[in-house]
Amino acid sequence: MTTQFSVADIELELLRYPAEQQSNLQAWDAADEHLLKELIATAQAPLPTAIINDSFGALSCGLSRLHHDWPLYIETDARTSQLGTQQNHSRNHLTMDNLHWLTSRDPLPNHLSLVLMKLPKNLSYFAHQLTRLSQVLTPGCRILVAAKAKSINRALLDVFAQHLGPATASLAWKNTRVISCIFDGKPRPQPKEITWSIPEYQLKISNLSNVFAGNKLDIGARIMLANLPQGEFSSIVDLGCGNGVLGLRAAQLFPKADIHFIDDSDMAVASAKANWERNHLPPAQGHFYWDDCLTHLPADVQPDLVLCNPPFHQGEAITDHIAWQMFLDARRRLAPGGILHVVGNRHLAYHVKLQRLFKNCTTVASNGKFVILQAKK
Ligand SMILES: C[S@@+](CC[C@H](N)C(=O)[O-])C[C@H]1O[C@@H](n2cnc3c(N)ncnc32)[C@H](O)[C@@H]1O
Repeated sequence: MTTQFSVADIELELLRYPAEQQSNLQAWDAADEHLLKELIATAQAPLPTAIINDSFGALSCGLSRLHHDWPLYIETDARTSQLGTQQNHSRNHLTMDNLHWLTSRDPLPNHLSLVLMKLPKNLSYFAHQLTRLSQVLTPGCRILVAAKAKSINRALLDVFAQHLGPATASLAWKNTRVISCIFDGKPRPQPKEITWSIPEYQLKISNLSNVFAGNKLDIGARIMLANLPQGEFSSIVDLGCGNGVLGLRAAQLFPKADIHFIDDSDMAVASAKANWERNHLPPAQGHFYWDDCLTHLPADVQPDLVLCNPPFHQGEAITDHIAWQMFLDARRRLAPGGILHVVGNRHLAYHVKLQRLFKNCTTVASNGKFVILQAKK
């Protein structure tokens, strides 16, 4: 795995976040290189620019290297991406005075001259991002979106036309293309929120557009809900909470417990919080953190139960390094005797990891596809 990024005269050292991780994945891809190459070829002036979905800062570090005072508005839903971008600016001795940080829900500035985006995996989220842009951009503003060539088709160009304006794709380079869209000047309304229910548990749920599983209950979460542990718990973590469904059910089962919801996605944390309120759970007992695993969980929180339905991809990459980090963090933070309760696809073989880390692992339930595992500290 290389960490040396090189496009035209831009040389950077780029790492993913966290820098120490059990994966061989690179911090950028050819679409980042393609986008920077285009901007250099057209001698783009350093005007106010939004950078949206930059994985670990390849685009923002590249532009900061070209002009240290380029005004950059960096929008991301992922805490790991924000932390990675900051880490890579520091590693490359780049000033951060030119950077303005935005989450996926913060209002965008209305004086942008250019928008640079990476195509996210989730197309409903992408459509939502274009709609947000349509509410602030000035007519004629240029939006450049870099993506793998195989992800670009007629249907995607229609998403641009529907939500922002006409778009055309460049020639392919290293199996990537840059889509150029010109804003047609018509602001689009935000989609209406959809609320759905899980009747067996009397829960009402709503998800923002980038939240795992969309407007339905994940099948792994369903089997987890049917097999939550029994006992007395007073401090519970829903690690990788998504819409918060596991922690909400835990709050019903253990009404005296404090529940800590943690997710890398800002929209997930916001949805979990909204769902806590929607289901009339006690405000003082719900705690919400936009974080990378348990990195910044307050020192005085010592959970006796961690519930976890771990992710098995990061962006486009299929990986189990986040599951591994979640298990490590759970072992570090659980109270002695505390329990890590995990659901996973059978083929992911989480029992091997749990056995190695905790020196014990019990199978609580399983069906053809999923298994529920428990490890005790
Ligand atoms: C399989 S989903 C589970 C969502 C929810 N708990 C459920 O069961 O429906 C995994 C969740 O982990 C989150 N996640 C991914 N990387 C993370 C990280 N580094 N730290 C915290 N959460 C992360 C994802 O955003 C996603 O919401």
